Amino acid sequence: MPVEWNESLAIGVGVVDRQHRELFARAAEFEAALERSDALAIASTFDFLRSYAVIHFAEEERLMREAAFPGFEEHLAQHRDFTTRLDALVREHREKGPGAFLGLRARNWIVVWLLDHIGVVDQDVGRHLRAHVAARGATGPRP
Ligand SMILES: [Fe+2]
Ligand SMILES: [Fe+2]
Repeated sequence: MPVEWNESLAIGVGVVDRQHRELFARAAEFEAALERSDALAIASTFDFLRSYAVIHFAEEERLMREAAFPGFEEHLAQHRDFTTRLDALVREHREKGPGAFLGLRARNWIVVWLLDHIGVVDQDVGRHLRAHVAARGATGPRP
């Protein structure tokens, strides 16, 4: 399964879609490092992906809060679960070194999570944010 963003994953909110593309790009760099069995690159691309996930989640959560997204708490829990599990993998990786099994497991889990979360859960956020912007544009003051 290639680590690739595609148009079907778009949620229709520019800033979020750009960040999702970047997340996939970083996951692809992690995958490439794994394929080269480059220990230093594996460690750095793993951290690179993790730091960007945190930036992205913070931005998405800010937008959800601003637009009073009704599924906010459950969504937040998914983000937290991802970073917690990613942290556990990063720790395991540092302790045990870049074993092929761990790397592959991490990579598969990250891809499945990204596809599932962005392809399903973030789509709800996109619909809500777009409706929120449209409603505000029609009735309320602009920011
Ligand atoms: Fe999300
Ligand atoms: Fe997202």
